[in-house]
Amino acid sequence: MVKNIITIALLILIVSCGSNSKQPDLDVVAVDSLNLIPYPQSIEKGDGYFKMNEEVYFFFSEDISAEGWKVMSSFFDTCSKKVKLNLEADSDANTCHIILSEDFETPENSVEAYQLDITNNNLTLTAKTVTGLRYGIQTLVQLREQTYSKTESAYILPAMNIVDYPRFQHRGLLLDVCRHYFDLGVVLKYLDAMEYYKMNVLHLHLTEDQGWRMPIEKYPLLNEISSWRLDTNGNKYGGYYTKEDLKYMVDYAAGRNITIIPEIELPGHSQAALAAYPQLSCNGGPIEVVDDWGVFKEIYCAGNDSTFTFLEDVLTEVMEIFPSEYIHIGGDEAPKFRWEHCSKCQKRMQDEGLKDEHELQSYFIKRIEGFLNENGRKLIGWDEILEGGLSPTAAVQSWRGMDGGKQAAETKHEVVMSPTSHCYLDYGLGSIDLEKIYSFDPIPTDLAKEYYSYIIGGECNMWTEHVPDEDNLDSKVFPRMIGLAEVLWTYPEQRDFNDFYRRLQNHYPVLEELEINYGLETIGATLTQEFRDTGVFIILNKNLPDLTLKFRWDNAQDTNYLNYETPIQLIRSGKLQVQALKNGKPYGNVIEQEFVKHSGLNKTVTYATEYNEWYTGNAEKNLVDGKTGSIDFRDDNWQGFWGNDIDVTIDLGERQNFIGVSANFYQYANSWIFSPKRVTMQVSLDGERWHEKETQTFTFVDLSNNKSIQKVQFHSDRMLGYLGRYVRLTVESIGKVPDGHEAAGQDSWLFIDEIIIQ
Ligand code: ACM
Ligand code: ZN
Repeated sequence: MVKNIITIALLILIVSCGSNSKQPDLDVVAVDSLNLIPYPQSIEKGDGYFKMNEEVYFFFSEDISAEGWKVMSSFFDTCSKKVKLNLEADSDANTCHIILSEDFETPENSVEAYQLDITNNNLTLTAKTVTGLRYGIQTLVQLREQTYSKTESAYILPAMNIVDYPRFQHRGLLLDVCRHYFDLGVVLKYLDAMEYYKMNVLHLHLTEDQGWRMPIEKYPLLNEISSWRLDTNGNKYGGYYTKEDLKYMVDYAAGRNITIIPEIELPGHSQAALAAYPQLSCNGGPIEVVDDWGVFKEIYCAGNDSTFTFLEDVLTEVMEIFPSEYIHIGGDEAPKFRWEHCSKCQKRMQDEGLKDEHELQSYFIKRIEGFLNENGRKLIGWDEILEGGLSPTAAVQSWRGMDGGKQAAETKHEVVMSPTSHCYLDYGLGSIDLEKIYSFDPIPTDLAKEYYSYIIGGECNMWTEHVPDEDNLDSKVFPRMIGLAEVLWTYPEQRDFNDFYRRLQNHYPVLEELEINYGLETIGATLTQEFRDTGVFIILNKNLPDLTLKFRWDNAQDTNYLNYETPIQLIRSGKLQVQALKNGKPYGNVIEQEFVKHSGLNKTVTYATEYNEWYTGNAEKNLVDGKTGSIDFRDDNWQGFWGNDIDVTIDLGERQNFIGVSANFYQYANSWIFSPKRVTMQVSLDGERWHEKETQTFTFVDLSNNKSIQKVQFHSDRMLGYLGRYVRLTVESIGKVPDGHEAAGQDSWLFIDEIIIQ
């Protein structure tokens, strides 16, 4: 009965709107198919719908008129000609109420909470804080995208009651504007996108070895010198924001519920500053702004009081611009080499009773923290600040995994999680795709419940060494940041990747409106293998439900792609090329993998030495799976042995004649991977007596930073080749990393991909 009355009332309303007399059935979006991101904590479905058109009266008080107007303008920039605003009157029909109320019961005590109650007659947005109201407005802005009815010239909002609040209070994006510089316009675009997804922290990485991006009046050389670097062609690269830019940015962010946390790196990642003020370094320079990527040994001298004067002056001007409670001081990756060899630093250690350079770093950080605290601010730094002792009030951002964060939480420090495993947007989709970042949980699985509240949230980190321009930046940040936005806002019980993926597809037009050159969600396909009695099979796995896959062998006669349906038996050598398709269009690049068909394929391998758990490849089948390694040593084809020789035996199952045995070894000194010193191949009929034995020895050790693959081949010069059932390969490593390398004395790696028996 009630329903009938509502229906009649709506009919009257529709008629009174003077719409088309042949009223088509209204197409109301089902609550279950709403595209909201991040998904609200709770949505209770109602009956009917609210028609947002020019008949609607808005009610809100003067003090939140900005928010009231925002709601109206979010709906009516295209459709309404006469929005009615009424601050006093109340009405039961067709009204939109925006209410800031002390009495609003905030779920989970969240000051960010809001309630959006939509019925046939009213739309009511309620929150205790303006912050909460703004999140409610973003939900309305997203609803707008999906609910416009052309025939009605109105937004048809399904009746429902949304109660929403975030799981974590710190939902951030780190933007590195130092390795590559991105101007004010780019930052503002990112703030717009962050607002849309209820992200609330922009962590702005402002200083680095490669550039300083903020003016400090007391130290003008920070812009004249530190903001610029010379590339290998002698071109000047760089830039900096003006203080006006930065103030504008801060205000723009604040109006969008976003805090900008500036990061001023110390004591390391500071070479650009030292290029301008070398007197703050341990040996006085000269020092240049870095035009390379990595970790560099020039850091602020901890024994020099003028270092602290300088940093306090800098931080004073930083605090004038940035009102954030937290100031990020970096603290990561500070090599102690200069401090170890600096008399001033050593004297400081003696005077302060510090037992090593880690304690000196701790002294450095604590001294800076004292200054920030005196100025009413809190310090946050990377997890290295735990080393050598952490002051009680500092917060930690965990990046080298979650352990630092866990340790900090257990000692009651606030923690922001951004581990490399899930949150590094500079990593490729092969290691962190959308589903991976969506699977992230900032709470470590083994953290006791009593410490959960110390994990205040997470960030995705956009380091820009390999991100030269805005298009590139967009394609790395989006859509993965949106995945993290939902992880940090929505409780796991309300989250489901497939549903998120469905909703996300409908957000791409919005990103296009924002002129965001978003990238892919994943690489289209992953290749796995099955080792059956009948042979080796290649399985192509699509990484998203709505993809299809096609493949071809690039050396085949017929080069047409075939639709992938069933596992492909490995019966030929060649390069397999796989193309994923979405909606019939190519999705991502062609994925390529080299295969070799040989006599050892799928045979039994016995390991007398163990491969390392970090680089297993296909485990016991890796050396006989037919897959060879690429120049990317993380491609999962390489098996790594650390501090170990390789000693493996392949059982061919029966006596065979074969003419050659070969294997590839990887060489990349930067990652401590060295090609072997000696390789020996032996052949046996019974696995005990080895009647063939051949050795190759290599004396050159490559300490350069070049990546290469060394092929070692044994070839029989007899007509029938070798005869045997067992093939044993022993590979001697160079041993410890040699002198002249920064990791001299550490265990080295040996990397091998396949033992090919022809
Ligand atoms: C970092 O990635 N060095 C914090
Ligand atoms: Zn020093």
